[in-house]
Amino acid sequence: MCYAIPGVVVEIRDKLVTIDYFGERKLARNDFCKLAIGDYVLAQGGFIIERVEETKAKAVLSDWKELFNELQETDMRLTSEAKTLYQLANKTRHEHTGNSCCVHGIINFSNYCVKDCLYCGIRNSNDNLIRYRMSVDEIVEASDMAVNKYNFKALVLQSGEDMWYNDEILMDIIDKVRSRCNVLLIMSIGERDLSTYKLLYERGARGILLRFETSKEDLYSSLKPGSNLKKRIELIEELHRMGYLIMTGFLVGLPGQTEEDILRDIHLTNKLHSEMFSFGPFISHKDTPLKDASLPSLDMALTSIARARMLYPDARILVTTALETLDKFEGAKKGLLAGGNSLMIDMTPVKYQKLYSIYPEKKGTESSIEERIEEVTKLLESIGRAPTDLGL
Ligand code: 5AD
Repeated sequence: MCYAIPGVVVEIRDKLVTIDYFGERKLARNDFCKLAIGDYVLAQGGFIIERVEETKAKAVLSDWKELFNELQETDMRLTSEAKTLYQLANKTRHEHTGNSCCVHGIINFSNYCVKDCLYCGIRNSNDNLIRYRMSVDEIVEASDMAVNKYNFKALVLQSGEDMWYNDEILMDIIDKVRSRCNVLLIMSIGERDLSTYKLLYERGARGILLRFETSKEDLYSSLKPGSNLKKRIELIEELHRMGYLIMTGFLVGLPGQTEEDILRDIHLTNKLHSEMFSFGPFISHKDTPLKDASLPSLDMALTSIARARMLYPDARILVTTALETLDKFEGAKKGLLAGGNSLMIDMTPVKYQKLYSIYPEKKGTESSIEERIEEVTKLLESIGRAPTDLGL
């Protein structure tokens, strides 16, 4: 599977580069490569990842040309008639972002967490969980495999809030991963000091995944003991100012959350300059205080995606694994057809996958990485989505 196809550079304005993919133009930011007009590049998440040698790029593009046209036709066909909210949202997605779909890899490298969030299965006081912490070498190996074997161009390194990974260790991870992999590195390590995030940026991390979870202040403090919503939002804003691409969002269907709250959550996601909207259904976990809370309906989760798309037509909207867990067979497809345009595949070593149990029966953990990639590739082909970058 190819998660990004090369495009050709047609304009360079300082750090902003315009890339052409079979006649479609997308913007990307360039922090690391020396580029000239006419160069072939791979971009992901609106970020230039690497230059690609011309003959190699042309070979990939000639293999892709026919399929690319077919995918566009399929997407066009599926969006030609729109009546329901989901169909209208899907049509809006098609009109504003084309048929691009990003597929990021995610490695969950530690399930230790100092926080005690009431909804989360890896909360500190869950004693029923076997904890794991991947070593620097294991993280580098897993990243190498995701990037150099499976071709992912954007990778999320995620953990609970685990202070064992101090500044030195985190910098070591980034240095080693970057020395072996050309990839957009996105960190999801919770609330850490600004000085830590600054160091990670200097080492080449460029994305942050940090949800605000809910925009409702009293709900936030009741679900996250000892935490403060304002502080979290300020951190996300500060990280954006630092230059990071922001991926943020919330949980859908938390106890006490209303539809209006969800609309406010969608607005806040946008207000925080979210490069990628990341929100998904809350799924109760038996080893948490919210074990008896009911699950949100699939309709509620899909409606949130569709509404976010209608409100912010140009957004990149992630279809989360939690949605796929709500509907194991068709969750991803339904999310993508309700306005979503991005997916993640769990690239955590299989022996740890089930232990990252923020919620139960996480989709993907029952199959091998190869099977999962094949499943996603087939799905994207069947609904006409292409692995061109969504751009900035
Ligand atoms: N259901 C769904 N998502 C959850 N998360 C944590 N617990 C759950 C749950 N029970 C999400 C949070 C967190 C992300 C890493 O996982 O939104 O930010």
